[in-house]
Amino acid sequence: MTTTETKQTHPTPPGNFGLPLIGETISFLRDGDFADKRHKKYGPVFKTNIFGRPTIMMIGSEANRFIFSNEKKYFESNWPSSTKTLLGPATLSIQSGDIHKSRRKLLAQAFQPRALAGYVPTMEKMTRRYLQNWEQQKTFAWCPQLRKYTFDVACKLFVGDETASETEMGDWFETYCDGLFTIPLRLPGTKFNRALNCRKKLLNKIETIIRKRQQQAEPGEDALGLLLQAKDEDGNSLSVEELKEQILLLLFAGHETLTSSVTAFCLLLAQHRDVLEKARLEQKQIQLTEPLSFEQLKSMPYLDQVLKEVLRFVPPVGGGFRQVVETCEFNGYTLPKGWTVLYQIGQTHQEHSIYNEPEKFYPERFSLEKTEEKPYGYIPFGGGMRECLGKEFAKLEMKILALMLLREYDWELLPNQNLEMTVTPTPHPKDNLLVNFKRLT
Ligand code: HEM
Repeated sequence: MTTTETKQTHPTPPGNFGLPLIGETISFLRDGDFADKRHKKYGPVFKTNIFGRPTIMMIGSEANRFIFSNEKKYFESNWPSSTKTLLGPATLSIQSGDIHKSRRKLLAQAFQPRALAGYVPTMEKMTRRYLQNWEQQKTFAWCPQLRKYTFDVACKLFVGDETASETEMGDWFETYCDGLFTIPLRLPGTKFNRALNCRKKLLNKIETIIRKRQQQAEPGEDALGLLLQAKDEDGNSLSVEELKEQILLLLFAGHETLTSSVTAFCLLLAQHRDVLEKARLEQKQIQLTEPLSFEQLKSMPYLDQVLKEVLRFVPPVGGGFRQVVETCEFNGYTLPKGWTVLYQIGQTHQEHSIYNEPEKFYPERFSLEKTEEKPYGYIPFGGGMRECLGKEFAKLEMKILALMLLREYDWELLPNQNLEMTVTPTPHPKDNLLVNFKRLT
């Protein structure tokens, strides 16, 4: 099915490049059904032009397998120019080759099971604080609240500040995130330019925090403390210059995606009361001791299926960008060197060849008896050597919030709101999820 070609003997995939220069970028950013429409028209491999580059979108488990197992050989990570500039060259997502490999190992020290176990008390405490606050508010738009919650948890663990969302850092971060997928115009007033200014402020702030921490006798048990002590194979630790950029990446990657996934959990369970009741029943049968521990979280099979299905149904990340570094062929099409390839998570998760009735929210599809999952067919966290570094951190935070909600609270959607999803920067309902929230009696 796949061979290397030195000459272009196969056509490039079908599709349309759109307008000169901007190609189809505007529709890509605005239309949540962009990939779906073209998938139906052209099939699972098609071409377009976005962010100024000819781009091939690839859908399905075979395409994912091809991309994830040929990183370095045919593909290299290649985000749009705005994202690349704003994340910065010294961040894991942008680094490649041996540097990427060695930095990934080093940063992974903050995501080992022992480190994660150490984060549980902080996550539990901060979740409790937010739950109590929502209980008092009773009726509110949940999505911005969930964004504050995930941002505060990430800031507490990565820079030691648990109310960052209330400070200027929260505003800077919002403006920064708004510029990540834009046309990179460095002109006053553009989203990109505003984001660049906020990046500078955020990096200064993070640097101050790192330097302060370096002066303390003990580096601390949180992620920042672990990263300050982490060393690579040669015994080198990260310079402050690099560490501040990596931390900025972790703050971004660690809260924007999580906001989308916990929002999707709250929405889907409000819409599927049968699933909520079944998950609640499982919780009633489990005795938890306080404080929560990593071990206690392990045996909740139905909740695991629910969270897995939430990430299949509403994957927070649409896909991953790669550059073709050597012309190759996939399923009878040429992927020319220099073009961009974008693997598609949401479309893969809706494949009828992988899932029965993929359009249905049905957690039991992941039960041991059914196991609909196929290799490379479930990829909310990507795959291969660039698989999400924070995958277990994300699953942990989702689980802590989910079980505390199920055990102690109830929520219902307010009528007359727009629940249609908007996709930028990550999927969330247009009216931000308006709810009534109360403690279970
Ligand atoms: C990479 C999804 C949470 C840190 C990725 C990728 C995906 C993803 C799809 C791969 C992108 C690619 O192929 O280029 C998610 C989802 C999350 C989540 C769905 C939440 C539900 C987190 C968290 C952190 C994190 C909590 C850290 C605190 C990273 C990093 C990378 C990454 C550093 C880059 C890995 C590399 O290039 O080697 N994530 N992520 N993510 N994620 Fe996550």
